[in-house]
Amino acid sequence: MKRITIGNSALTASEISLGCMRMADLSKEDANKVINTALENGIDFFDHADIYGGGKSEEVFADAIDMNATIREKMILQSKCGIRQGFFDFSKEHIISSVEGSLKRLKTDYLDTLLLHRPDTLFEPEEVAAAFTELEKSGKVRHFGVSNQNPGQIELLKKYVDQELIANQLQFSIMHTGMIDTGFNVNMTIDPSLDRDGGILEYSRLNNMTIQAWSPFQFGFFEGVFLDNDKFPELNKTIDKIAADKGVTNSAIAVAWIQRHPASFQTVVGTMNPGRIADIAKASDVTLSREEWYEIYRAAGNQLP
Ligand SMILES: NC(=O)c1ccc[n+]([C@@H]2O[C@H](COP(=O)([O-])OP(=O)(O)OC[C@H]3O[C@@H](n4cnc5c(N)ncnc54)[C@H](OP(=O)(O)O)[C@@H]3O)[C@@H](O)[C@H]2O)c1
Repeated sequence: MKRITIGNSALTASEISLGCMRMADLSKEDANKVINTALENGIDFFDHADIYGGGKSEEVFADAIDMNATIREKMILQSKCGIRQGFFDFSKEHIISSVEGSLKRLKTDYLDTLLLHRPDTLFEPEEVAAAFTELEKSGKVRHFGVSNQNPGQIELLKKYVDQELIANQLQFSIMHTGMIDTGFNVNMTIDPSLDRDGGILEYSRLNNMTIQAWSPFQFGFFEGVFLDNDKFPELNKTIDKIAADKGVTNSAIAVAWIQRHPASFQTVVGTMNPGRIADIAKASDVTLSREEWYEIYRAAGNQLP
């Protein structure tokens, strides 16, 4: 498993991360198997959020491995805050109480990384700055970042916070490529030329922020998985052919496609199937050629100008 440095920090982690959004309903035994399979395959970065399963995902995670100091040191734990029932909340009070809740449920005294989950337009940057400083000083959070934010939002935050923002978690997959499409279609009048994210790909590269690609197997907004899906025959034919050539599964190719991009991606996979986790980990040993990468992009229905 290749390791990457997360943003401008000293934190190194597996280039594939396990997202725990779907862990809430797992039994202790099943969750234990999932976590240990990830660790055995070199995946040591675990993504959480206070809202996953209403907090249950974090609880199941810690219980599954009987969280203790020895195992804690083997993993990098990230959580997210800011989404509440029907609104977003970046107030100092909420950020701090959310982290305290996550720490309690995860049975740890620190988070390696905390991300602000979704932009709260009512946010006061001074409050976020005060929350980050308090959390850093108390040792409860070591690194900070954002999720689903554009360059303008990040710059605004950076004007106030003292801490480096090391990661931005964004939806990205073979079937969700808006941040790439724009660059291929500069100054054109077709839909893919629309810049929907303020040039986040180039901004992240220029500022050395790691893009954490969430939902790497989904199309639309949780509409389903594109792999082995009859709706996408051409794409699956192409992926399956390349998977057979490389001796890995189609899931591994979908992740290798993301990791092939030089923009320092970290792919956050959400499968709770240990066999799939082991298969996906093999993506780290696959490097797609430029031709293969573009072939998959075109097979997904994208046209190059
Ligand atoms: N920042 C944000 O706003 C945000 C939003 C959403 C998610 N996330 C993070 O991203 C993580 C991943 O999200 P996700 O779970 O939606 O992404 P995903 O990895 O694209 O999807 C995983 C889901 O697809 C299913 N699946 C079916 N066939 C599959 C195959 N061949 N290969 C892999 N999975 C297959 C899995 O089922 P099985 O379990 O049966 O394999 C699982 O239910 C989450 O856990 C969370 O940490 C962040």
